[in-house]
Amino acid sequence: MKKVIAIYPGSFDPLTNGHLDLIARGSKIFDQLIVAILRNPEKDPLFSLGERREMLEAMTAAWSNVRVDTFEGLMVDYAVRVKASAVLRGIRAISDYEYELQMALMNRKLEPGLETVFMMPAEQFSYISSRLVREIAQLGGSIQGLVPENVEQRLRAKLDPAIKLEQQLPKVKARKRS
Ligand code: PNS
Repeated sequence: MKKVIAIYPGSFDPLTNGHLDLIARGSKIFDQLIVAILRNPEKDPLFSLGERREMLEAMTAAWSNVRVDTFEGLMVDYAVRVKASAVLRGIRAISDYEYELQMALMNRKLEPGLETVFMMPAEQFSYISSRLVREIAQLGGSIQGLVPENVEQRLRAKLDPAIKLEQQLPKVKARKRS
């Protein structure tokens, strides 16, 4: 029987609890789900591609049919390369719909065999976005409950110079000793 492979593309800068909710839902209906992080040389992300991959891998390790990958260029070309027949995207509110519809129709024009499947995250995640999480964290607000704990710690470490220094100190001391 044909296995349905789906990709869940995005920037994931950073991964949020809304993304994780969608991954959980997607893993239930697709045989294989590939979380595909866009490598976009034009954007200046908060987290490097490697950091985003690490966080996603850590948080999706429990699902045996989910893997994490990165891609560059057209999403449809990547989808064909990995033999995906579906693209998973989340719709949180009507405001997402126009952009998502345009993208889905354009992707269908480029690759008619690829279906976009929209899923809704649980209501409690419907207001979370990576952009707002970054903004709140950068301005010193609490992001508890919006992102997984390991992402919260990494965000704090990245944005708080004191924590950054604390983490670097053991490395500096070790370097001096050797
Ligand atoms: O998490 P995001 O930033 O909303 O994800 C957007 C993403 C990565 C799905 C979209 O920008 C994308 O597919 N980019 C790859 C380039 C591409 O295929 N562009 C044509 C889109 S119709």
